[in-house]
Amino acid sequence: MDSSPRIIVTRRLPEAVEHELVTRFDARLNLDDRQFTAPELSAALREADIVLCTLTDPLSRAVFLGAAPALARLLANFGVGFNHIDLAAARELGIAVTNTPGVLTEDTADHTMLMLLAAARRMSEGERELREGRWTGWRPTHLLGTRVTGKVLGIVGFGRIGQAVSLRASAGFGMKVLYHSRRPATADVERRTGAAAVGSLDELLERADFVTLHCPATPDTRHLIGEAQLRRMQRHAILVNTARGDVVDEQALVSSLRAGLLAAAALDVFEHEPAIHPELLALPNVVLVPHLGSATVESRVAMGRRALANIDAFLSGSTLPDRIA
Ligand code: GLV
Repeated sequence: MDSSPRIIVTRRLPEAVEHELVTRFDARLNLDDRQFTAPELSAALREADIVLCTLTDPLSRAVFLGAAPALARLLANFGVGFNHIDLAAARELGIAVTNTPGVLTEDTADHTMLMLLAAARRMSEGERELREGRWTGWRPTHLLGTRVTGKVLGIVGFGRIGQAVSLRASAGFGMKVLYHSRRPATADVERRTGAAAVGSLDELLERADFVTLHCPATPDTRHLIGEAQLRRMQRHAILVNTARGDVVDEQALVSSLRAGLLAAAALDVFEHEPAIHPELLALPNVVLVPHLGSATVESRVAMGRRALANIDAFLSGSTLPDRIA
């Protein structure tokens, strides 16, 4: 590879990151920030040495096959989740794949607490009322929510983000934190984050006042929270999802909310995003946010730097720090 490898970047990135990309490499930016189509993604993999992609690029097997013979040898994903990438197909074409773990943990955990609190305290309902000129003033029975402090939080998936949420909830809000994970954490992690493992997802759903999802989206976790699981939840419970949309069966969630099987939900991610289930839009007790978990300047710049660290390692022939395929 020559000294100026070609990099195609599929979305706008923070200015500092784009600056570094164009000054150090032959980088083609996506200045109008329009999402690439499948043929455009295949063409990028055919034409560039490295493609820097994001979660809005569905890198399916068909896209990889459409790229063959691909020039690209590295797909550097800007983001930690990688359910939009067919890793097996990337491997078959000899394309390494990396992500950006760690650098967005704290902001995503903060955002999760924000969503949980917003749903508990009916913040979206209040803001809508006020903006629409319907607020008539303070009264003792107005928009009563539910207390967060001291309640039971159930965390599904206990990786970096789940643990960071646990720490905030236990140390900051005195919550009793339970978690369910494929791999139990060490006693040391449990002590540090104030969490206790439960034996099954069902037990967690039955005991929690709030349930928050932090597992990756995989074929195994698709619709992990479906009708049967929602039925296990307490009627006063609130579901928070800042992980991935398809971990929840959205139609089942709508039906359960309508039937009063749970009190509310706070959703940052959606099964068919950016399309939103129309019935979710109509339900007052759902907080809806457009996938903003890692949306701080600090996280997004750090994610770009992490992608660049993977690119640098790749170009110098070193071990890729965040290789996922
Ligand atoms: C955001 O959702 C990410 O996967 O980084």
